[in-house]
Amino acid sequence: MNKRDEFLPYCRPYFDDDELNRVADVLKSGWWTKGSVTREFEKVFAEYVGAKYAVAVNSCTAAMHIALVAKGIGEGDEVISTPMTFCSTINTIVHTGAKPVLVDIDSKTGLIDVDKIEAAITEKTKAIVPVHYAGQSCDMDKINAIAEKYGLFVLEDCAHALSTEYKGKKIGSMGNACAYSFYVTKNISTAEGGMLTTDDEELYEKASVLSLHGMSKNAWSRYGTKGDWKYEVCDPGFKYNLTDIAAALGIAQMNKLDEMQDIRTEYAEIYNKAFDKIDGITYLKDNGLGKNSAHLYVIQIDKNKFDIDRDTFIELLKEYNIGTSVHFIPICMHPYYINNFGYKKGDFPETEKMFEGIISLPLYPSMTREDVMYVIEAVREIAREHAK
Ligand SMILES: Cc1ncc(COP(=O)(O)O)c(C=O)c1O
Repeated sequence: MNKRDEFLPYCRPYFDDDELNRVADVLKSGWWTKGSVTREFEKVFAEYVGAKYAVAVNSCTAAMHIALVAKGIGEGDEVISTPMTFCSTINTIVHTGAKPVLVDIDSKTGLIDVDKIEAAITEKTKAIVPVHYAGQSCDMDKINAIAEKYGLFVLEDCAHALSTEYKGKKIGSMGNACAYSFYVTKNISTAEGGMLTTDDEELYEKASVLSLHGMSKNAWSRYGTKGDWKYEVCDPGFKYNLTDIAAALGIAQMNKLDEMQDIRTEYAEIYNKAFDKIDGITYLKDNGLGKNSAHLYVIQIDKNKFDIDRDTFIELLKEYNIGTSVHFIPICMHPYYINNFGYKKGDFPETEKMFEGIISLPLYPSMTREDVMYVIEAVREIAREHAK
């Protein structure tokens, strides 16, 4: 096949005049930071996922952090999560002073192995933070049942899970606290941004206050006509609020979310069909628990079938001008966590096994069907040339 000249990036945002016009309107309005547009974005978002409350913040990391702090999690506590996640899931636990306790995954799905969670619970355990890896839902009935049995708080890391469903219900609609990301690679983007949703009014109130320095509610409106210069600091909060500029992008992106999801799903299905026929390449197994948001498209390279490893596979894809990524370098392999929590090789065998073979391929609405076919052809050619 002919290699293309133009680089196909791993990701590129999808937008049209709606984003441009809404951002221009906010700029012209003179009110750039948190205000009525952010409020509207929170409302639109809560309605979409089916949650009672939403707090817009400047990242998913911020959303997770304020949720844990609002629930009083801190020094001496333990929080259960997964090693197959982005560092920020675990960093937010560390920032509260609590100890992260990792539970291995199922290497076929990349999701936390729910059957291993109970064994990790101690009297110090206060919360579980499951990650809906790649856009597939964790087994929430089992996780919620464990949480109920031991009185634990559940915070779902939904960075990949906007529009993911569990047994026919949208993630976000089942009462738990959920943290979403609008980073530029995500299913919608505000460049940087995030949202915490919940049905718990007390958590919502506390998280709202924590997201803006711990200042009394509605302090954000103090420079408007209805605002008051007086405010009280009730907690040492954080500067995590979203801006109206970003929220304008968010509203425009929400309006086209279903359209973008249709394209992601279509492309993921094209990939699935093609990779079914390439020996040595597999993709994530569907656990049958609900609709996948098709956030990531992760293939797994069977090292026994090729004379090259995953890293070389990525290098060869680069020669075809294809950008890729790896989700994730597991938590248990980074020096900070090894040095502080004593992880060693063999502690999380399923995670280690999965990491060896994974590559995330480009999957986003602004790529064309031809781009998808090009990626498939490149993977097929590399697989053929390097088959053992
Ligand atoms: C699983 C997971 N959790 C959390 C995050 C953090 O999101 P943000 O960059 O919005 O803080 C990411 C971002 O890539 C992620 O993939």
